[in-house]
Amino acid sequence: MARLMREREPTNRCIPINRRQAIRRFGWVSLMVLAALVSTYAALVLFVPSFGAPFMTVLWQLAPWAVAAHLLGGALALVLGPWQLNGRLRARAIGVHRWLGRGYVVAVVVGSLGALVLAPMSQEGLVTHVGFGLLAVLWLLATAQAYRSIRARDLESHRRWMIRSFAMTLAAVTLRIYLPLGLSLGIAFHDAYQVVSWLCWVPNLVVAEWLVLNSQALKSR
Ligand code: HEM
Repeated sequence: MARLMREREPTNRCIPINRRQAIRRFGWVSLMVLAALVSTYAALVLFVPSFGAPFMTVLWQLAPWAVAAHLLGGALALVLGPWQLNGRLRARAIGVHRWLGRGYVVAVVVGSLGALVLAPMSQEGLVTHVGFGLLAVLWLLATAQAYRSIRARDLESHRRWMIRSFAMTLAAVTLRIYLPLGLSLGIAFHDAYQVVSWLCWVPNLVVAEWLVLNSQALKSR
């Protein structure tokens, strides 16, 4: 009976390969577009004076190097990340994957150190200071772990840590989806920003963990 039920359960294996590839391609292109939009926004905040949220003027005065490092590193990590997840690029040009990977690691180190300086100055108090601060630490640690595992030639561990690292890089995208959504629902900025400083990354990590577990389960079948 249990066997019969397992056979009837829809699994990834039941999805035709063409459709699976189309879904993957759609997901990857969507990632690219969202990453390009937020990176362009970050570049505008970086290079166009007085562009961006009003509180940025204060941050520019208090910690100009941290702001510049954060925006530059964050934008680069966001643009490079989707390419690192692209299986075709890895298969066809492993040298390019390695160089972009080094660029991604440097970008995350620079971006997260900037974020660590900015987190205690972030808007709306202790909740956002801890939310952004913890994200910055975990972002740095996951990326360092991904780098360490590839140096040790542990491909499986490297893949898992890169998924987690990029899930956190994507917090820059999810924050900029949830915050306007919350504000448009009439939630005050004070409350919305506190919630979003956690909501932008905790569910991303849950999805990343699901992806890691799901791909392991598929392999062991
Ligand atoms: C993943 C870890 C990240 C952390 C912990 C983090 C943290 C922060 C913090 C604390 C601020 C200042 C916010 C405030 O003062 O309230 C900020 C601003 C900003 N961050 Fe990040 N960030 C992260 C990733 C990224 C990435 C990947 C980008 C990509 C471009 C990015 C782009 C920006 C931009 C553009 C701002 C300026 C604020 C705005 O205009 O929206 N961040 N970040």
